[in-house]
Amino acid sequence: MQYRRCGKSGIQLSALSLGLWHNFGDDDFEANYRKTLHAAFDSGITHFDLANNYGPPPGSAEINFGKILHEDFLSHRDEMIISTKAGYYMWPGPYGEWGSKKYLVSSLDQSLKRMRLDYVDIFYHHRPDPDTPLEETMAALDLIVRQGKALYVGISNYKSEDAAKAFAILKSLGTPCLIHQPKYSMFERWVEDDKLLDVLEKNGVGCIPFSPLAQGLLTNRYLNGIPEGSRATKGVFLKQEQLTETVLNKIKALNAIAVERNQTLAQMALAWLLKDNRVTSVLIGASSSAQLLDSVACLKNLEFNKEELEKIEGVLKS
Ligand SMILES: NC(=O)c1ccc[n+]([C@@H]2O[C@H](COP(=O)([O-])OP(=O)(O)OC[C@H]3O[C@@H](n4cnc5c(N)ncnc54)[C@H](OP(=O)(O)O)[C@@H]3O)[C@@H](O)[C@H]2O)c1
Repeated sequence: MQYRRCGKSGIQLSALSLGLWHNFGDDDFEANYRKTLHAAFDSGITHFDLANNYGPPPGSAEINFGKILHEDFLSHRDEMIISTKAGYYMWPGPYGEWGSKKYLVSSLDQSLKRMRLDYVDIFYHHRPDPDTPLEETMAALDLIVRQGKALYVGISNYKSEDAAKAFAILKSLGTPCLIHQPKYSMFERWVEDDKLLDVLEKNGVGCIPFSPLAQGLLTNRYLNGIPEGSRATKGVFLKQEQLTETVLNKIKALNAIAVERNQTLAQMALAWLLKDNRVTSVLIGASSSAQLLDSVACLKNLEFNKEELEKIEGVLKS
């Protein structure tokens, strides 16, 4: 494993982090996800990313992770960075989503109970709230750190302009932002158009792209059809309609480039993000330990020559 410094902080993160959005809910098999967690930790992955609503049902990923943490990993707690988030809908009424202090503080208290933890390492505001003053949301993050319920704070899904404002508020409160979590992959490039990495670098904030494999599209998963049990068959966040002929042709062409590099497509997609040292860690999902180990092996080749990069751009623009 490689460890990379998170912005200008004291924290280093493993170059790959494991997210529990999918595959750790009550519909999934405990023996399977326990094995994935062990494979991750044994590979040197230190960072495990959760949110209040991960499951299904919402909250179950935190409960299931907390159970395994207590049964298998408790003596390693100080070697782990555990994060959770609040921002999306979690409970009915006006205090169950978005960015009020009431919601963020209550939600983190619930998350800590579900995971049976005294504190998380990183607490994120999960998405910007157009209606709550940014000052209130950032003050809630600062409060949570002062209460000892989180060591660091982060934001997710914020565009550059609002992110810069959030960083300034947090800095003025004495709780600098550790990390930003944007959606970023070969198939999702808003981060580049928005110059987000420049803003993060200027503010000394780390970057952890989520869905770096575009939920499985940037892997060999769909090269020969739609396998039973794959995310596309569940049809909620990744829909079969997204696998158009154009997308499939791109996946096949990218796979051919990956093969020339002696990598799987997943490995090339992850290496493509990690080639920029402003990317602290890539936040992957995995439905099996085999997938996780395949992804971790991206670290064997993070270098791209000019010709390879041009070929990739050619495919993505086609
Ligand atoms: N902040 C936010 O708003 C936000 C939003 C979304 C996600 N996230 C975070 O990002 C994490 C990762 O998101 P994600 O699950 O969408 O990431 P992803 O890495 O893009 O996709 C993971 C899926 O790709 C497939 N896969 C993974 N490795 C593979 C391999 N080596 N070979 C073949 N297929 C492979 C699996 O699909 P199958 O299940 O079909 O096997 C797996 O479930 C989440 O768990 C969460 O922590 C954050």
